[in-house]
Amino acid sequence: MSGHKMKRGGMNSRQGGTGPGSARASARRPEPWWSSAVFYQVYPRSFADSNGDGIGDLDGLTARLEHLEQLGVDAIWINPVTVSPMADHGYDVADPRDVDPLFGGMAAIERLIAAAHQRGIKVTMDVVPNHTSSAHPWFQAALAGGPGSAARGRYFFRDGGGPDGALPPNNWESVFGGSAWTRVVEPDGTPRQWYLHLFDPEQPDLNWDHPDVFDDFEKTLRFWLEHGVDGFRIDVAHGMAKPPGLPDTQGVKTGVLRHSDDDPRFNHPSVHAIHRDIRTVVDDYPWAVTIGEVWVTDNVRWAEYLRPDELHLGFNFRLSKIDFDAGEIHDAIQNSLAATALESATPTWTLSNHDVGREVSRYGGGEIGLRRARAMAMVMLALPGAVFIYNGEELGLPDVQLPDEVLQDPTWERSGHTERGRDKCRVPIPWSGDTPPFGFSTCADTWLPMPQEWAALTVKKQRADPDSTLSFFRRALELRRARSEFDGGEIEWLDASRGRLIFRRRGGGLVCALNAGRRPMALPPGELILSSAPLVNDKLPRDAAAWLV
Ligand code: NOJ
Ligand code: CA
Repeated sequence: MSGHKMKRGGMNSRQGGTGPGSARASARRPEPWWSSAVFYQVYPRSFADSNGDGIGDLDGLTARLEHLEQLGVDAIWINPVTVSPMADHGYDVADPRDVDPLFGGMAAIERLIAAAHQRGIKVTMDVVPNHTSSAHPWFQAALAGGPGSAARGRYFFRDGGGPDGALPPNNWESVFGGSAWTRVVEPDGTPRQWYLHLFDPEQPDLNWDHPDVFDDFEKTLRFWLEHGVDGFRIDVAHGMAKPPGLPDTQGVKTGVLRHSDDDPRFNHPSVHAIHRDIRTVVDDYPWAVTIGEVWVTDNVRWAEYLRPDELHLGFNFRLSKIDFDAGEIHDAIQNSLAATALESATPTWTLSNHDVGREVSRYGGGEIGLRRARAMAMVMLALPGAVFIYNGEELGLPDVQLPDEVLQDPTWERSGHTERGRDKCRVPIPWSGDTPPFGFSTCADTWLPMPQEWAALTVKKQRADPDSTLSFFRRALELRRARSEFDGGEIEWLDASRGRLIFRRRGGGLVCALNAGRRPMALPPGELILSSAPLVNDKLPRDAAAWLV
């Protein structure tokens, strides 16, 4: 890692605006805090365990906030912590306005919000409007009410096809594998109606045409905003609205954890009215941000979610879906910028999350995978907009090959053991020490086992090593926050040929160079402020990136 000169000294620009000295902030209306924020995604089961049950929790997170402050993030996004039977680890919500005792209950989130705010870190929560848990009182009332009852109107209960209704109402598949319909057995033992679940059977889809559904969601949004949260990550934000009549999918490519733009299960145009209603509520809290999980690839249709009266931000998964290939990276960046430009929205960047494998492994694993991951982190952090870092990314953690018997992701069972699912990227964070559980917990039996090799990757070891991935991330975030060269919402390409990518931030002039080719690459002119790997004979080695001003 190369040294750097701080231009304006260390500063904390988390108060809103884009930071001292920003031309953008002073020229026009102040930019909202999230427009260039670094978000850090906390998968709470995996971050830190405070009570020795082997599962991460909110007090564990609160106790480790210093790590995030030193890393220099602006905000955290916490995956769901609300009351849940945990069939999909919190994405099956039984009470959206209370915290599950597993994570410490309401008092723990109140402690977390206060402590994070004290350190200047904003807190965003996950909300899950598309479905509830099957343990939610509404669904329990629907089961008890029986066919035709008003309580069933909040979900999708339908009679089956075939002479005795034994066939599912349509051919939809669950994203986790198998049919999207489960048949209900009535108390007298007779199988009768079916209900829809695009995910696990324990996650019945809500009927957003029922007025109770929005009313309750509004209560949930206001509840958390009144508790001081700074915004929401909205799960399956392209779901919720279903096509009238629930027509069969025809000729549409689907698969476990996959769907395409022409899939009638998602992205129905009436979803936008729901987003407009949500925005009306959130606008009562002008500091708050909404970030939608929108798995739509077409630029025009994706950008529709970012119209001025819908979501503030939309996840952009393009960088998480491609190889370490200069052409693919260039196209992903161009396409992402073009998509957000359609609505003059803020770009976002994500290399990985709890659903997508870790980039170190995607890029080939081992030393090469890590080098490429560091290089891509610099590309991502050099781009205009908001950035999402997934917990453990700052440590260069790889995916873990877990044995069959410990797998917990519902996709493993539902795919008939053909898809191993997402546990590989959810293994707990190694904090300190030489043997599992590496300070994550006092209990050796962590919810997913931690590999012995992670002894070399603990936060404690990496903190002490100036060349570690953690030290590299800290330096990169510090530069990104402090230097005006990162200003400006546009980039211009200086080179995109033969495995090289070089672009400049138009406003501030930062130049980012990526060498994804085979040979060492001469650097463009300028003062080097950071490189992801040491230069060799003044050249940028392969699988590395550099920042110049
Ligand atoms: C998307 C979430 O990111 C994923 O983890 C979850 O399984 C599904 N939505 C269902 O809520
Ligand atoms: Ca715990």
